[in-house]
Amino acid sequence: MKAACLIALSGALLWSRLAAADAGFPSFADPHLAKGRAIWLDTCKACHAAGFADAPPVHDKEAWRPRLAKGKKVLQQHALNGFFGPQSTMMPPRGGNGKLSDDEVKAAVDYMIAIVK
Ligand code: HEC
Repeated sequence: MKAACLIALSGALLWSRLAAADAGFPSFADPHLAKGRAIWLDTCKACHAAGFADAPPVHDKEAWRPRLAKGKKVLQQHALNGFFGPQSTMMPPRGGNGKLSDDEVKAAVDYMIAIVK
C-alpha cells in the first residue's frame, strides 16, 4: 500500500516536471507554429533545449544571431538536409527523424526561429 502510494506520487511528480518543462517553451495561436511546436518538442528539443551534442540551445540568443542572419530558407534547408558547422558539429538531416515530412521540418524550424529571435 505504502509502496503503491510512493510510486503514484513519484509518477505524478515526474509528470508535472515533464509538463512544466514543455510549458517553458512558448505556444503560439498561429496553427503553423503550433504544429511546429509539437514537432519541435517531439524531435528537436532533445538537442536544442539544453545544447546536447553542441546544438545551439534555444535560450542562447548569441549562438542564434549568426544563424538567424542566414535567413529562414537556408536554415530550413540545413534542417532538412543536415549541416556541418565550422566546429564540425552536426545537425542531422530532419533531426534524425526520417518520418517527418518537409513541411513538418520547416514548421519546426519556423517555431525555433520564433522562440530564439
Ligand atoms: C542529435 C541532435 C540534434 C537534433 C535532434 C536536432 N538538431 Fe538541429 N542542430 C544540431 C547541431 C549539433 C547543430 C549545430 C550544427 C553546426 O552548426 O555545426 C544544429 C543546428 C540546427 C540549425 C541551425 C543550422 C544553421 O545553418 O546554422 C537548425 C535550423 C536546426 N538545427 C534545426 C533543427 C530542427 C528543426 C530539429 C528537429 C526537426 C533539430 N534541429 C533537431 C543537433 C540536433
